[in-house]
Amino acid sequence: MGNRVGVVGAGYVGLTTAACLAHLGHHVTCADNDQSKVEECAGGEIPIAEPGLRGLVRDGLAEERLAFTTDLAALDQSDVVLLCLPTPTGPDGTADLSVVETVLGSLREVLPPGCVLVTKSTVPVGTAARLPRLLGRDDIPVVSNPEFLSEGTAVADFLEPDRVVIGSAPEHREAADRVAGLYAGLDAPVIRTSAKSAELAKYASNAFLAVKLSYVNTLAELCEHLGAEIGEVTMTMGLDERIGPDFLAAGPGWGGSCLPKDTSALLGIAEGAGVDLPLVRDAVAVNARQAAAMLRKIRIAATGTPDGSLSGARIGLLGLAFKAGTGDLRDSPALGIAAELAAQGAELTAHDPQVPDGPGWLTSTGNPYQVANRADAVVVLTEWPQFRELDWFRMAAAARRPVVVDTRNLLDDKILAGTGMRRIGVGAAKGE
Ligand code: UGA
Repeated sequence: MGNRVGVVGAGYVGLTTAACLAHLGHHVTCADNDQSKVEECAGGEIPIAEPGLRGLVRDGLAEERLAFTTDLAALDQSDVVLLCLPTPTGPDGTADLSVVETVLGSLREVLPPGCVLVTKSTVPVGTAARLPRLLGRDDIPVVSNPEFLSEGTAVADFLEPDRVVIGSAPEHREAADRVAGLYAGLDAPVIRTSAKSAELAKYASNAFLAVKLSYVNTLAELCEHLGAEIGEVTMTMGLDERIGPDFLAAGPGWGGSCLPKDTSALLGIAEGAGVDLPLVRDAVAVNARQAAAMLRKIRIAATGTPDGSLSGARIGLLGLAFKAGTGDLRDSPALGIAAELAAQGAELTAHDPQVPDGPGWLTSTGNPYQVANRADAVVVLTEWPQFRELDWFRMAAAARRPVVVDTRNLLDDKILAGTGMRRIGVGAAKGE
């Protein structure tokens, strides 16, 4: 039969959630205050590039199980309403709940008795307990059901999750059962916890990933000093099931809309509780150091010395997005490194397959070969696989100095052999 589900927010979490729940047989109304986004979605076009999502949205619309609206009042028949709203980092580092608060003010009169309210976007620990007061109603149970979607694989992450976590107060067991029922079609463990544990588990997972990556990036630095190869080290580590092979790729540092925001929010939460989280603090510090290390490599490549001036140096950038598979520039390490290069006077030409128009302080091109044109260095900043397929002879021939700083360890000797292009990677002594 399916539930009547309201989803508030049509960002990548809300849109994915709405389309996937419709796919699972529920009747979903997705509300967003952005009129043009709602019109676009209602017409079967979606504002983000997420594999499989457009098809699910179109199926949902065609089968009349998915609708989009700007009017929150359309959620007045809902069995469950999921909040998929932005919680950006506030000035003190903790998550800013002002959008959630505004929406709750509007939902006060709308939610029917017996409806369950669910927090899906990442919210500070204790939010589920605070929501009834912010909503101004004590008859609406609030359940925490954090999402674990990664950009670029959000649909697959939703439909084949490692786990579904549902956190609630003991007296809201029935409400939690109803939320669990939304996922009845999935083959995934459903974990029932307190609301606070569910809320913390989300931050704890993202912070753990950040710690894992920063650990690998410091090991990469050590490899460079010892003459070891980080890829060989992490391959060995990853085959230990207790460690696992994912999130072991050294790179220019971690970014995106979640890891930086959630690590800083978790530190703020911990500070508020009077608890120090030194590992998370260090992971953040290491990430800043990683960007500085990449800049140093680029300076050496482009000028021949660690303290050469970049003023007037022509640097070609391959990739601007925070990772491959997305055009998202939010907290992108690539963009941060580019901005610092520009601040030091470098002339930048950038190509990213998903970012046709980068910021105005660099030249964007749809032609990857143009980034090498008379370049003092080419820098791979995002791990788009198609960069491996470029004609690296042509790249080397076009460059003033045929050197590529491969901050993602995307290219290998086989690809570059005989091309004349020298490679400087991360976590290996060779070529540096
Ligand atoms: C992250 C988490 O992976 C999701 O589980 C979580 O649901 C999501 O945040 C969220 O909170 O909504 P996402 O921000 O899409 O997902 O990106 P990730 O795939 O986690 O990548 C984060 C950063 O780590 C990127 O800059 C990426 O390039 C970098 N990374 C990742 C590496 O440098 N090496 C790796 O081996 C893996």
